Amino acid sequence: MPVDRDAILSWYGAVRRDLPWRRTRDPYRILVSEVMLQQTQVARVVPYYEAFLERFPDELALGDAPTSEVLRLWSGLGYNRRALALQACARAVAADGWPPDAEGLRALPGIGPYTAAAVASFAFGEQVAAVDTNVKRVIERLDGRQRRPRELAARAAELLPPGRAADWNQAMMELGATICTARAAACDACPVAPCSSRGRPLPVAPTRRPGGA
Ligand code: ADE
Repeated sequence: MPVDRDAILSWYGAVRRDLPWRRTRDPYRILVSEVMLQQTQVARVVPYYEAFLERFPDELALGDAPTSEVLRLWSGLGYNRRALALQACARAVAADGWPPDAEGLRALPGIGPYTAAAVASFAFGEQVAAVDTNVKRVIERLDGRQRRPRELAARAAELLPPGRAADWNQAMMELGATICTARAAACDACPVAPCSSRGRPLPVAPTRRPGGA
């Protein structure tokens, strides 16, 4: 079933929340937001994000800071390993400059494929799909099937509207976070019609390889 990408982009344009990291294309500021958002809800992140950037406005400031101070500003967000990895990233990019693309970003400490693609699309405008658990669920429901990781990545890349990766990635995340949620998806409020899973939006059972694996 073809996915109505224009409907998703228009919906996002209409509901888009003005979040602080959506007002910048600075890779440092975007990276800080994505690392904070990895395990923490948006509403909780905003005040930490603003305080953190006030004290550490760029990679030089964060790289030079005592780690104890970085952890102090992080405390309350939890998962402190994220803060340590972020400081290691700041030191790496302060020394060597920003990698130009998602592939280069993946070589930085603690940066996985999702975060690399998010930063590359939001900051550099690279045409790459950022697939987190929300986006994975949305794609699987739109298509009415699950895919193995490599095939999911290919499908996510195929869905990218040309030239619109940044908005598209934000739109898919927002759809997964607010409408196409894991439980009790709000299909009636969803901009996508037709959708393979409308009205029965629970995820299909995990795929099993024949013979187990
Ligand atoms: N969760 C992860 N990244 C996000 C972003 N850029 N905006 C809102 N929620 C997010």
